Amino acid sequence: MADLSVDLGFRTLKNPVITASGTFGYGEEFLPFFDLDILGALVLKGIFLEPRPGNPPPRLHETPAGLLNSIGLAGPGSAALQEIIRRLHARTAVPIIVNVCGENDEEFAEVAAIFSGLEEVAMLELNISCPNVRKGGACPAQDAGHTARLVRQVKDRVRKPLIVKLSPNAADIVAVAQAAQDSGADALSLVNTFLGLAVDLETRRPVFANVYAGLSGPAIKPLALRLVREVCRRAYVPVIGMGGITCGRDALDFILVGASAVQVGTVNFRDPAAAARIVSEIALEMDRLNIKDLAEIRGKLQA
Ligand SMILES: Cc1cc2nc3c(=O)[nH]c(=O)nc-3n(C[C@H](O)[C@H](O)[C@H](O)COP(=O)(O)O)c2cc1C
Repeated sequence: MADLSVDLGFRTLKNPVITASGTFGYGEEFLPFFDLDILGALVLKGIFLEPRPGNPPPRLHETPAGLLNSIGLAGPGSAALQEIIRRLHARTAVPIIVNVCGENDEEFAEVAAIFSGLEEVAMLELNISCPNVRKGGACPAQDAGHTARLVRQVKDRVRKPLIVKLSPNAADIVAVAQAAQDSGADALSLVNTFLGLAVDLETRRPVFANVYAGLSGPAIKPLALRLVREVCRRAYVPVIGMGGITCGRDALDFILVGASAVQVGTVNFRDPAAAARIVSEIALEMDRLNIKDLAEIRGKLQA
């Protein structure tokens, strides 16, 4: 049987499959579908300090092989999430990752500090890349200087491992990745959604109130794979790759270009048990290809 475990340096995961933020609720919703202990880890939906209603509908729009979303980071706020995490942790031993958001740097640092202090939380993922928040304009992940300042500020306030989640909408994602790791990120995750546009010919208006929305799902996999490869070539911290993964082979593709672990997102909407299926498919595929452990193929793309 193949060894699926992953050593991130600061923590070992039993396998590389992590459910992606915003596509797996707060974990509890998926308890009826499979035993969450099967997962390497799970990331909760992004959280701000205070409750947020999110954007007006429509919030989702399907495209061929993809999904556009403009949720606007709706959420219950940090106080309510702490209760949810305690409940979830009582029912599963899976490592819980909190996706930290903020409308400004101070809020990012404050939310990160709150969840860093929560025993039930394994790691933090800093969502500096959400394209849906209008206030403050561009997200920090579009700028290497801003990313460096923010990561340093957050790092000063936390004791848990800090994953920094990058945006594919940055002009130079490799520069932003370097700024994040040089400023203390323990790992990098990428990609968040690609900015896209859907329009309605009848009304001659954009489908979404915010005009642009984030594209995810199989449509983005080749784009994400390229960016993950580019970042992995320069990264000295572990990289968590994602974008359009729907099966075990997709996950192994990201590992081949250098990712240590993967996140699976949009596929959870189509098949709520997809993440568990992907764990077994990785094992089957490794057996078939006679791969004993993931280090054998990590970053071994011959090009
Ligand atoms: C409906 C929806 C909500 C999302 N919410 C978040 C979020 O709260 N925080 C975050 O960092 N990423 C969020 N994402 C981005 C995903 O975590 C992931 O980066 C992206 O969808 C690419 O992976 P996929 O193609 O497997 O879905 C969201 C994606 C979708 C589709």
